Amino acid sequence: MRDPRPVHGRACASAVVLLVVVGLLAACASATPAGGDAAPVPEGVTSPAGRDPAADDPSSPGPAPGAQGGHAGDRGPDLSAHSPDDPSSPWVVVNKARPLDRAYVPELTEVRGYLLHPAAATDLTALLAAAEEDGVHLTVRSAYRSAEYQARVHDGWVAQLGRERAEQVSARPGHSEHQTGLAVDLGSTTQPGCDFSDCFGSTPEGRWLVEHATDFGFLLRYTAANQDLTGFAPEGWHLRHVGRELSAHLARERVDTLEELFDVPGGDRYP
Ligand code: DAL
Ligand code: ZN
Repeated sequence: MRDPRPVHGRACASAVVLLVVVGLLAACASATPAGGDAAPVPEGVTSPAGRDPAADDPSSPGPAPGAQGGHAGDRGPDLSAHSPDDPSSPWVVVNKARPLDRAYVPELTEVRGYLLHPAAATDLTALLAAAEEDGVHLTVRSAYRSAEYQARVHDGWVAQLGRERAEQVSARPGHSEHQTGLAVDLGSTTQPGCDFSDCFGSTPEGRWLVEHATDFGFLLRYTAANQDLTGFAPEGWHLRHVGRELSAHLARERVDTLEELFDVPGGDRYP
């Protein structure tokens, strides 16, 4: 599997070979985060009920908001670079408490017959190719959904599951990340019956995503651990694109949600 962030490793290896500065060895060692680049592993991707169709550098200004620890040589992204409020922002936070304008339509392009924001499409294409290299064959099951389409999807879940359960697994129109073009639902080729179901997390495809989604700029947005903050039940198949810099930052700092990172409302209640 390719390592999308091998720069430290290669640079350090070269430095070792050249032996330009002996002390550089120590610098290289400290430039690689302890524990590697592992994504924040969800505590589980199962939900109670079965589911569901649908620095230490003294010159540093200090830790960024949401940061929970320093990382030598890496101050993290500038969290003011993109707004969590602008629907066209790569870091927009959409949840039950934070609606989108129902008329909002993002810039879109196609990946495997599905529409996604171009930035998300580029990273999804790379993710799918890397998975293939690892012998893991993912399918795309859903991507951009207009507010009108989301309304039909939501109504379908209410009809199938009843309102209480449907509200845990499906966003009302105007409250779905899928309307931003930054969310995608992936599926399993080995166990397609687990698509949109709790057991997806136990499939080879689901396990690969837990390990690697972050490397390609995506978050597993809905986990058992963050359910109270996101307002939705765990979805091991739902990826949210935020870009590689922010996904790496969140993993490194062990911040589990966009709500915590940007200190914005979340939870189970609609306004
Ligand atoms: N299933 C997710 C929460 C959505 O409907 O956007
Ligand atoms: Zn989804």
